[in-house]
Amino acid sequence: MKRVVIAGVSGAIGGALATVMIERDPQISVIGLCRDPGKAPEALRAHARSTVLPWDAEHSESSVAVAEALESLLAREEGIDGFIYAVGVLHGPDMFPEKRLEDLEAASMARAFAVNATGFGLLTQALLPWLRHREFKSVVAISAKVGSITDNGFGGWYAYRSSKAALNMLVRNLSIELPRRCKPIACLALHPGTTESALSKPFSQSLAKLNVHTAAETAINLLEVLDNVEQGDNGKFLSWDGSELPW
Ligand SMILES: NC(=O)c1ccc[n+]([C@@H]2O[C@H](COP(=O)([O-])OP(=O)(O)OC[C@H]3O[C@@H](n4cnc5c(N)ncnc54)[C@H](OP(=O)(O)O)[C@@H]3O)[C@@H](O)[C@H]2O)c1
Repeated sequence: MKRVVIAGVSGAIGGALATVMIERDPQISVIGLCRDPGKAPEALRAHARSTVLPWDAEHSESSVAVAEALESLLAREEGIDGFIYAVGVLHGPDMFPEKRLEDLEAASMARAFAVNATGFGLLTQALLPWLRHREFKSVVAISAKVGSITDNGFGGWYAYRSSKAALNMLVRNLSIELPRRCKPIACLALHPGTTESALSKPFSQSLAKLNVHTAAETAINLLEVLDNVEQGDNGKFLSWDGSELPW
């Protein structure tokens, strides 16, 4: 049995990834994480091979609680085969992507960093004891192309862009440390492509010009990439079609 931890299963992409994974492979079990387990897809909550645990990226002690809950579910030496961080915030009741410098707010920056970057680092830290077995495993952050510093020719979206760039740096750092401690492993960032979700909804008009996927299509695209991930992909930033993106 392969065991995968997916953070953000109440979201469009995280929920679709978890559902597709569990439905297509009878040898996979999923441990889903989200703020309100009641918001995870019914197909996941009802499934015998899945468990959904509460976790909130904005409460740093929450990742410790996840590790405590995992202790009673899974022996450390059994380990996990994958960790996918499909969590993100771009807008909220008091938060909207900044168009210009005057829009920048400390609270939005702090929230974006907590949810888009710090949560990934703290969860990877909490899961470390389950990553030390000798089989291949992957640690994957769902990032965003707009987090690429090289690719940024547009500006704006200060909190989201800079927190995704921070997430990318966490991936690069972990891609150096984890192989020393948890070999064989690959740690990478993955751009999911533009996808219908609550996160992208306010921008649906401007996105109409782009190739927008449903969450189920994105899950299939991402799993095609993830199915082929190997140690040589450690430290890469990949797009949903498998191409490499600049950091
Ligand atoms: N959709 C796109 O076009 C697109 C493009 C590029 C990158 N991405 C990335 O893809 C990932 C998934 O996004 P999505 O499109 O699936 O958006 P989504 O449907 O809005 O899902 C976002 C997820 O993040 C979770 N989240 C937000 N704040 C949280 C917190 N404080 N603690 C724990 N979880 C929290 C949400 O949980 P709740 O249900 O509790 O709110 C939800 O599970 C994100 O990293 C996003 O940046 C998406």
